[in-house]
Amino acid sequence: MTTPYPRVELGDLPEIDVFSEEFRAAPWEVTSRIHSPNGLARSSRGIEGLTYQSAHTVLGDRRPRIGFDEMYQATGFDESSPVYQAAVTSINNLEGDVHKVLRETLGRYFTRDFVQTLRPVVRSIAEEILDGFVPGEPVDIATRLVGKIPSRLFASLVGAPLGDAEFLEKTSDALLTVFYMDNANHEVVEKAYAGLAAYVEDLIRVRQSSPGDDVVSYLLDVERSGRITRHDVIVNVTALLRASTDTTAGQMGLVIAELAERPDVWERCHSEPGIIPAAVMEAVRWRTGAWSILRVVREDMNILGTPVPAGTDFFGLAVAAHRDPEAYPDPHTFRLDRRRPKPTLNWGMGVHYCLGKPIAQVEMEEVVRLLTERWTGVHLAKPLVTDGEPVNSRPLTALIGHTPR
Ligand code: HEM
Repeated sequence: MTTPYPRVELGDLPEIDVFSEEFRAAPWEVTSRIHSPNGLARSSRGIEGLTYQSAHTVLGDRRPRIGFDEMYQATGFDESSPVYQAAVTSINNLEGDVHKVLRETLGRYFTRDFVQTLRPVVRSIAEEILDGFVPGEPVDIATRLVGKIPSRLFASLVGAPLGDAEFLEKTSDALLTVFYMDNANHEVVEKAYAGLAAYVEDLIRVRQSSPGDDVVSYLLDVERSGRITRHDVIVNVTALLRASTDTTAGQMGLVIAELAERPDVWERCHSEPGIIPAAVMEAVRWRTGAWSILRVVREDMNILGTPVPAGTDFFGLAVAAHRDPEAYPDPHTFRLDRRRPKPTLNWGMGVHYCLGKPIAQVEMEEVVRLLTERWTGVHLAKPLVTDGEPVNSRPLTALIGHTPR
């Protein structure tokens, strides 16, 4: 990484406590007070990219790696474990040509046109759930609406019955605990992976005898062409669940909670549905689900003028970058008229950039469209409760009082 940045030794970087109450409450306020010549700071977990520029540059660099090995090791899995092997050989973690083949393969399925066909699917999933609510009664939409949609959409993507969605939702929740890098979650992850792998193998058996237009049948076709293996099919279908459900539910919950507190924006989404994509993306910037994105520095390297030894963890602090005035002028104003705003970092950056971002956008947009069509407004009946993790903050409950139109 050649940069115009002056040399700053690691030990001379400013420090930040990303686990402090103050940081959890308003990370951008903490980072805005830190003077760092290259936008980096040291924390107890590694190095933090505080600005859009520093986070974007390092996340987009091919040399630091994704670090699933580290996450799974921290959760107590070693190389002999099938859970570990599945994680490190999935699209998320692989590099080079093998990664490229998987990415191209999935990319050919998740085309722009295909993603648009998901709009009515998401809408009908959300409608069915909404029809079950008692009009006007407060309802915890974090658990009863938002948490249900991505797992149902996943069921539909893999050609499974919608009745499997509950199992998929619970499995995904369990698998995602690996991001907390805590050995206490070992058994939960192990059990969830074993259940999911068996489930995917069953799905494969069914799809072999009766192929459809689902992603599993498609991957089996690609397997027959010799471009990918059976292992790739199993591991990447499980990876798709891990990648697509909890992440989307978390961000969708935050978007709705934000719009709930902005009745004017809510009303505009109803009267001018054309602004929904902008409203969703501004809410994503404003309330970022994935607070930070991890990279592991795998060789001694110079990062923005700072020599960093191999083995150091780097965290691109999306949550702070999204309020960086250099990237988003007037960052503390919620604006629907941002012109070609820089891409937010919750979907990562570089060769591993989220393949499902357009799908997540469609999910969020369709749910906002439906809610603003049906309800005149919503309010948080209780303050929003999130897990407040600096890794990935998501609503645990959002009790919403709503008024039908
Ligand atoms: C709001 C929802 C979502 C968020 C916040 C999210 C976030 C991410 C992030 C941070 C990465 C890693 C990027 C990096 O490290 O640079 C990623 C990768 C990925 N995501 Fe998503 N994601 C979401 C939804 C989805 C959905 C709906 C799908 C698929 C249906 C999906 C599929 C993937 C895949 C396959 C990868 C791996 C790409 C690669 O390594 O080449 N994601 N996502």
